[in-house]
Amino acid sequence: MGKIGKEKFKTFGDVFDNFTLANLVSLSQKGCFLEGTLSTGKIGKEANIFFAENEQGERVCLKVYRLETANFNRMYEYIRSDPRFIGVLHRRRKVIFAWVQREFRNLLIAADAKMSAPKPIKFLSNILVMSYIGGKDEPAPMLKDAPPKNPEAFFQKTIENMKALFQKGYTHGDLSRFNILNHRERPVLIDFSHATMNTNPLFNELLERDAKNIALDFWQYGVKTSKEDILKFIKS
Ligand SMILES: Nc1ncnc2c1ncn2[C@@H]1O[C@H](COP(=O)(O)OP(=O)(O)OP(=O)(O)O)[C@@H](O)[C@H]1O
Ligand SMILES: [Mg+2]
Repeated sequence: MGKIGKEKFKTFGDVFDNFTLANLVSLSQKGCFLEGTLSTGKIGKEANIFFAENEQGERVCLKVYRLETANFNRMYEYIRSDPRFIGVLHRRRKVIFAWVQREFRNLLIAADAKMSAPKPIKFLSNILVMSYIGGKDEPAPMLKDAPPKNPEAFFQKTIENMKALFQKGYTHGDLSRFNILNHRERPVLIDFSHATMNTNPLFNELLERDAKNIALDFWQYGVKTSKEDILKFIKS
């Protein structure tokens, strides 16, 4: 690992643990982004969002899953030397890595379905790199913070995206105005970590929940729709 590289990321202070730092250096060495361009985006429930630029001057978005909560860190310090608990950390990390891989693969499916969603670029352990959605100055706002000017048209585009994904045999699984960005009055679906396929026993439940959430959200924007209408459209 390049010493210089690590130094540059040090400006992020305590944000990254050494493992994440090493992965960031590796991703930037692979050309995913330029180290000096990394900037802080949002802090999510389990992941932190960062923005950066690549050599071509294109913006990218990095979703960095936190490996350990502060509490877990302290617990781990106490438990790591206990021979009965070797492997606890390892197992926990494996789940996180699988989660990142699933999100990446789901974004590939979204791209294949020609959905309006970030393009997957790369993943490594706890980090997912995807295309950036937004303008020169600011990332696109969440739909919940930027209600559509034309709710009917925005709604139509949203359910067309849901249908495209359904036709590939998938559903988003966590769809709502929190995971839709309003990018220049067009929906961009994000946060595909929950998306799953129709052979999953939970598929129908997730599909119905997606349809219900979208119906409720757009009802608030004045669109006369229902969960049933949405499901009918998706399945037609
Ligand atoms: N590709 C992107 N371009 C611009 N902004 C993004 C992009 N991906 C995510 N964001 C911003 O970061 C926020 C959090 O992202 P996301 O919804 O994927 O994570 P999360 O809700 O923290 O994830 P999880 O539910 O898995 O904990 C989004 O609401 C959005 O504002
Ligand atoms: Mg989200």
